Parts: sequence; structure tokens; C-alpha cells
Amino acid sequence: MKRTLGVCYYPEHWPEEIWPQDATRMVAAGLSWVRIGEFAWSRLEPAEGHYDFGWLDRAIEVLGAAGLKVILGTPTATPPRWVVDKHPGMLAIDAEGRPRGFGSRRHYCFSHHGYLTECRRIVTALAYRYGRNPHVQAWQTDNEYGCHDTVLSYSPAALAGFRDWLAQRYQSVDALNRAWGNVFWSMEYHTFDQIGLPHLTVTEPNPAHVMAFRRYSSDQVVRFNAAQTEILRAHTDAPLIHNYMGRVLEFDHFDVGADLDIASWDSYPLGFLEDRLEFPPDHKLRFLRQGDPDCQAFHHDLYRSVGAAGADRDAATGRWWVMEQQPGPVNWAPFNPAPLPGMARLWAWEAFAHGAETVCYFRWRQAPFAQEQMHAGLLRPDSADAPGLAEAAEVGRELAGMADVSHRRAPVALVFDYGSAWAWQTQPQGRNFDYFWLVFSAYRALRRAGLSVDILPPDGEGIEKYGLVFAPGLATLSDALMARIATHSGQVILGPRSNSKTTEMSIPVPLPPALPFLDAAVSLVESLPRLAPVAIEGGGAFEAWAETLEGSAEIVLTRSDGVPAMMRAGAVSYLGGWPDDALWDRIVRDACTAQATEFADLPNGLRLRDTGQHRFAFNYGPKPAVWDGVEIPPAGVHWWTL
Ligand code: GAL
Repeated sequence: MKRTLGVCYYPEHWPEEIWPQDATRMVAAGLSWVRIGEFAWSRLEPAEGHYDFGWLDRAIEVLGAAGLKVILGTPTATPPRWVVDKHPGMLAIDAEGRPRGFGSRRHYCFSHHGYLTECRRIVTALAYRYGRNPHVQAWQTDNEYGCHDTVLSYSPAALAGFRDWLAQRYQSVDALNRAWGNVFWSMEYHTFDQIGLPHLTVTEPNPAHVMAFRRYSSDQVVRFNAAQTEILRAHTDAPLIHNYMGRVLEFDHFDVGADLDIASWDSYPLGFLEDRLEFPPDHKLRFLRQGDPDCQAFHHDLYRSVGAAGADRDAATGRWWVMEQQPGPVNWAPFNPAPLPGMARLWAWEAFAHGAETVCYFRWRQAPFAQEQMHAGLLRPDSADAPGLAEAAEVGRELAGMADVSHRRAPVALVFDYGSAWAWQTQPQGRNFDYFWLVFSAYRALRRAGLSVDILPPDGEGIEKYGLVFAPGLATLSDALMARIATHSGQVILGPRSNSKTTEMSIPVPLPPALPFLDAAVSLVESLPRLAPVAIEGGGAFEAWAETLEGSAEIVLTRSDGVPAMMRAGAVSYLGGWPDDALWDRIVRDACTAQATEFADLPNGLRLRDTGQHRFAFNYGPKPAVWDGVEIPPAGVHWWTL
């Protein structure tokens, strides 16, 4: 596999005279891809049916002639004013019933038919014009589905779509009433048209109702994206990509990915640390200018798996890119520090070590106007080099000196399920129960032990290739996953809360986890404030969540109050709580030992990742770290040939 760099560029923001110099400088910096067009609808179609493709023709020609490959974005994340005026009902409505107005971006409801028709039209026009353009070598659909909380919309269009979706899923209202348990609080319906959206109720709506709406809303994103890929595929053979965001869980990315060729995501390590990760202040301070050592890696591994969904590939080999890489301070987090010198290089190398084909920096030149004027680029607003440019160029030189690389299957798999994220948002049963954070806590422990990780979809496809499998917090175990676990020969660690909901958000009887091969049942659950941990004998604790386990399976860990904490049958274990970091470390080490898998004890902030040819080390810590006899400076990257 060849690895390349790129950049996001907005020719419509700059005078045409400077495009050629920009293109030349991009090539000189070692960049080979340039993404354009994804917000340019008002310049492509200034008025309904009046297209202006001249400038885009010229931009593509200038960039292509300089030797750059173009990724062309469909502009559907930014419908211009005239589209909104034509379809006032296309605006999404928030949970409080307020329209999400024009004047920024992503102001559309996925359920709105009129807007989808406009999207089909502009995408068709672009596909027709550029589908065979030799410089356009990849396409991006829309931009960051779900960013700015834009999946759930409580609009009339969503209401109508939801009722249709329910009628198809349940076939009869009686079946729906039974499935949801609507006899509780006299919520029974007589027709599908009586069913509303699950918001603005006096107290919480029925969790089955909420879950159905979450599934419906995810399906709308899939449908919206598929409408574009169908058109594009008729006109181009270039790969189709979407740029996902970090920690956006409101739609099933595996389902969207099934219609695409490559997954990509937008990696803003410092923005995420400040804005999206609930770490304590000392952690945020330690990694202020580096980003959390595991957040990027987790998403790299997740999107590699999402990238496999649309191809005949798997969690280890899926095609994926970083479409946007932070180059300097961003504008949107509560604090926006500058990266430590070296981080714009480190982040790119870490992506490559996780199997990225391409890393594109966001953006070429800092825009001196509008919303993102405080967001750094590779160039300053005055066109002088910004610090990120030299680092990108350094990565470019290093890549040129490194032969093609291949993927290496990780020794550990971690199962990830968007549906479980919805289930636990719907019924957290405790303020701290967050699915992402639970899975991420397991992932972080695996990384502290120096392990590379592959992330599997919820049906566990490919599980047999892994000696160690972690699957925390899966609300419902599908028959497929259950069957795969039953015949798996390696270690599998389930729990907490595994299989504790039916697909209709009820408690199953017999009681969970109801594993035919492991006699353990959860007889009581408790959610706890983090200040009230439950100690485990031998070290570590449960925090946030603790279950009372009963049954005849072997007891592997015991709480200090004598209650079983983890039970096992054969190589399958069930964990009855949410481990703190110390307990996760114990569990990971014990599982590795049982499976004869090598593990390490890494210095704080040092991380490893293996490819087919190399072992990489990344130092996220603020001090030098020594590994395998090599001192790695802060923001340093080192690799050994394997
Ligand atoms: C991304 C987005 C870009 C830009 C960037 C700023 O979320 O896709 O268009 O807004 O953030 O960091």
C-alpha cells in the first residue's frame, strides 16, 4: 500500500490568480491530494437551475496540471439560501421544537423529500460534469454527517417518515403496542398516525419508542448517503468516501460505510481533548498540546473497520483516510492551544501506522474572514508558511523514503456497536453510563499494555481471527455474535450490561446475560457516583456501574463485599461492573497471560502500533520516554523494522 498526503482547499475563497502558486506550493510540500468543493453550492448554482461550473473547471485544471489529484466534495452540507427559501420545511427541528436556521451549515433534515430531490439534482450535475475528469480521483459525499448534533430532527417530515417506517417494521399497531409495552401508562395506539416523535413529553418517553426513533434516524442518514452514491457510481469509477467526525454516534457508520469504498474521518486531537473527552484536569493539562494518546488511535481503528464495510475487507485491512488533520490551533474548542512542535508530524505518522492510505491537512490557507478565521492552516492568512507546513513537508519526505507497507492483524479485537450507544443514551440508569466512554476505557487499557487493536462490527464478523476479544456493554447480543462466541477458542470478555435489553428495550427473561455457555445471571444492578467505587479484592474497583452476579460459573474476581465481580466458563468471561483503570489493567494482563499474548507496561503517554513491516512508537508525553533502548523526545516518533 502506498501512503500519501493531501490538503483541503477552497479555491472559491481566493483570487483565481493565486491558484497556480498555491498548487505549486502544495506539490513542493509533498502533497498529492487536494479536497475541494464541499461547501461551494452557492457558487456552483447561484440560483435555481443556473449552474456556474466555469470556475470549478478551471480550479480542477490548475490543480490537476500541477500534478495534484482532486477529491471532489458534494456540497450538500451547505444548501444555499434559495434552497431554504424554496423548501422552508427542510430545516431540522431540535428536541425543543425550534428550527435550526440558515446562516452556518448542516441546516437540513435528513427526512425531507424536497431537499433530497435538490441534492440528487446538484450531485447529478456534478457527477455528469466531472465523473470522467481524469484529475478527479475520489469523491466525498456531503461533510461530516451528524456533526453539530444534526442527525435527530423533530420536523413534520421526520414525523411522517417515522410513521411509515414504523408501519413497515411492525406491520400492525397491535404488534407495536405489544413490542413497546404500551399498556404501561395507557400509551396504546389505534393507528400509526397517532404516534408522535419521542420528545416534549411530560416525563421520559417510552424507551422502546425512543430506540425506534434512533434507528429510524440512523436509517435516514444511510438513505441520504446512498442517494448520492447511486448517482455517483453511474458516472465515475473513482472511490467514494465520506469524512466522519470523532465521537459522533448518532448513526450507524457501518451501515453508511457499506455504500462507500473508503472511510475517512476528521482528526482534531487538541479540539477533541478540550471539547469532547471527559478527562480530569490533570490529564487535560498533561496532554494539552499533544491531544489524548488514545483518542485518535481509537477512531483510526474504528474507521478502518467502517472502511471494510463497503469492500471485501476486514477490521485489519479496511480502507481509510484522515480527510482533515489539525495543523495548528483550531477555533471551536473551549481553549485552542497550539500543538507542541512535532505533533502535526506525529499525528500523521500515527494515522499511517494504523493503516491510513492518505492524511489530508485542514486547511491550506487560514481564511481571514467568516466563522473559521481563527483556525490555523498550513499557510497563514498572509500566505506565509504556518508551522504546520514544514511538518507536513517532513512527513512527505519521510514517506518518500519508505517503501510500501502492509497491514498487520492486531492480537486483540474490540467489538463496537452504535445501537448500544443509543440504548444506553436512552436508558443510562446512571449519569455516568456512556457507551463510548466504556469501550474507550477498555481500549485505553489495551493501548497502555502496548497492544494494537482491531475493532469489529457488532455481529463479530472475523472474531475467529483474534485470540483476545473484548466486547463491553453490548445492549443486545445478536444471534450471529452469540454463535461466534460459543465456538470461539480464544478469550472473550463480555460485560457489563451485555445482552441486558431485548431489541425492544425490555429486560429479557431469563435474566441477562443469558449465555447458554456460561451460568451467570445479573440479579441486581446499581449505578454509582464516581466518588463511590466498589473495591475488588486484589486491586482496582468498579466505578459508575456494579452488578450482583449469581450462578455456578467459576468466580474469577470478587468484590470486597464478597459478591462475584467476574465469572468465567471456558475462555468466556462476564464482567459485572465498569472497571476503573487499575482493574482494566489487571483484566487485560490476565487475559494476555491466559492467551500467551505478549504485552508491555508503557511509560505514561508512550504508545506503540505495529504494521506489517514496522513497530512505531509515539511519545505523547511532555517528557522524553525511553523504549527498547531508544530515547524518544516529546512529540517524537520512532520506528523499528520488524
Ligand atoms: C471540521 C469540518 C471542517 C472545518 C473543521 C474545523 O469539522 O469538516 O469543514 O469546519 O472542522 O476544525
